Parts: sequence; C-alpha cells; structure tokens
Amino acid sequence: MASGQLSRAEALACKGCRHACHVMLYCDTKTQLFGKIPLRHIILMQMRFDGLLGFPGGLVNPSKETLEEGLGRELLEELGVAVPISVEDHVDSRYAPTPLPSSAPLIAHFYVKKMEEEQIIEVERAAVTTATDYGQEVLGMVRVPLYSIRGSAGLACFLSHSFIGHARSQLVDSLLRFGLVTPDLLHKALRHSLETHKDNAKDLRAALELTKAKGKQP
Ligand code: APR
Ligand code: MG
Repeated sequence: MASGQLSRAEALACKGCRHACHVMLYCDTKTQLFGKIPLRHIILMQMRFDGLLGFPGGLVNPSKETLEEGLGRELLEELGVAVPISVEDHVDSRYAPTPLPSSAPLIAHFYVKKMEEEQIIEVERAAVTTATDYGQEVLGMVRVPLYSIRGSAGLACFLSHSFIGHARSQLVDSLLRFGLVTPDLLHKALRHSLETHKDNAKDLRAALELTKAKGKQP
C-alpha cells in the first residue's frame, strides 16, 4: 500500500480520527468541442468556498452513519440530488493534510462512480437550482477538460490550478486507473502544467505590482 494509505478497516478502526468522503462522478460522452475535439468523458469537480478545486463530499461521522450514507448526505447538500454511493465505488483511504498540526487526524476516503450522461447533466442542473450549498460552500460545478489544445491549453491548464487536499492526485490517479486519458497525454499535460505554473507566478507578481501602484495613488 502506498505511503499514507490505509485499508477501509484500518481507517474505521482509528480512534479519534475525523473522516471525510469525496467522490469523482463521471460518464462517457460523444460530444465534441468546436464540433471536432472529442470530450470523451465528463468528469465533475467543483469550485469550493475556499477558492480551491475539489470533489463533492465532506465530513462524515462513522459513529452515526456508514461512510457511504454520510457521503450521500453531503452529496444531497452540495449537488441537490440523491446520488447513491456504494462500498464498491470506494477507491482509497489516506491521511489528509490538516490545517493545524494540533487538529485531530483526518482520513480522506475517495470514491469514483460512473454514471450515464443524462444523470451527470441532471446533477449539473440540480447543483445550481436545488442544492442548498450552491453559492456558499459550492461556488459552481466544473468539468475537467481532458484534451490538449495549442500545447498547454486544456488538461494542462486545468491541472495547474490549486486543489484541496489530495484532489489533484486523486484526479490524476483516476484518469490513469479508469483509462480516461492516455498515459502519454497525461504525462505531457503535467509537464506543460509545471510550465504554466511558472507563467502563473509571473502573472501573479505583475498583479501584485499593480496593487502596490494603486495603493500609492492619492
Ligand atoms: N482530499 C483530501 N482531503 C480533502 C479533499 C480531498 N480530495 N477534499 C476535501 N478535503 C478535506 C478538507 O480540507 C476538509 O478538511 O476534507 C475536509 C472536509 O471536506 P469538505 O468538503 O471541505 O467538508 P464539508 O463537510 O463539505 O464542509 C465544508 O465547512 O465546517 C466547514 O471547514 C469546514 O471544510 C469544512 C466546510
Ligand atoms: Mg464539501
């Protein structure tokens, strides 16, 4: 087992640990971008209240509910529609980073569920209409671009954003594990992503200068 990973039984046996469950919902699609670039799959992520990209889900309480029941409850709040998750959808459990060293350990349980395209579209609609968390804990659902255009656009740019906890590695691992992109495309996207990151840093420094200049104005 990779470092930091636990079996489900080990995770549930942890006394004093907190637990969070998140899920990657996805489907196949024949839709093409600009009528020529196949989207191949729709993978749902969300822009969270903290400005980070992540998967839907949240804190669960295994003394009162199963992990999957807790995840289902969180999904109803964040997506506005019931999405039943089963033990078979579980992919891995790992210790997650906590904001303060003094916080109780947090175990992040990750699930992946394949759905039909109509169901995914229903989730996207419900997330902005019936979900109680919309506009507050969830700022919007986003699809992951799985193609590469003009070298660094598409997946590479997406991967260069900021993600919560293990979300970026869970996404990358799932893309490979479920064969959603080729290893070659992913490898190139990650290399471009590192380059994009440098450009982002330059851009941020320029923006910082702008605020300094504005601050000096009367
Ligand atoms: N991998 C690892 N950890 C994650 C992941 C992930 N993919 N996604 C979220 N986390 C962590 C978060 O950092 C948080 O500490 O799991 C915890 C719970 O996940 P959230 O989705 O943020 O929790 P939620 O129950 O939806 O509540 C939203 O309300 O009370 C506040 O601060 C609390 O973050 C919580 C927020
Ligand atoms: Mg959440």
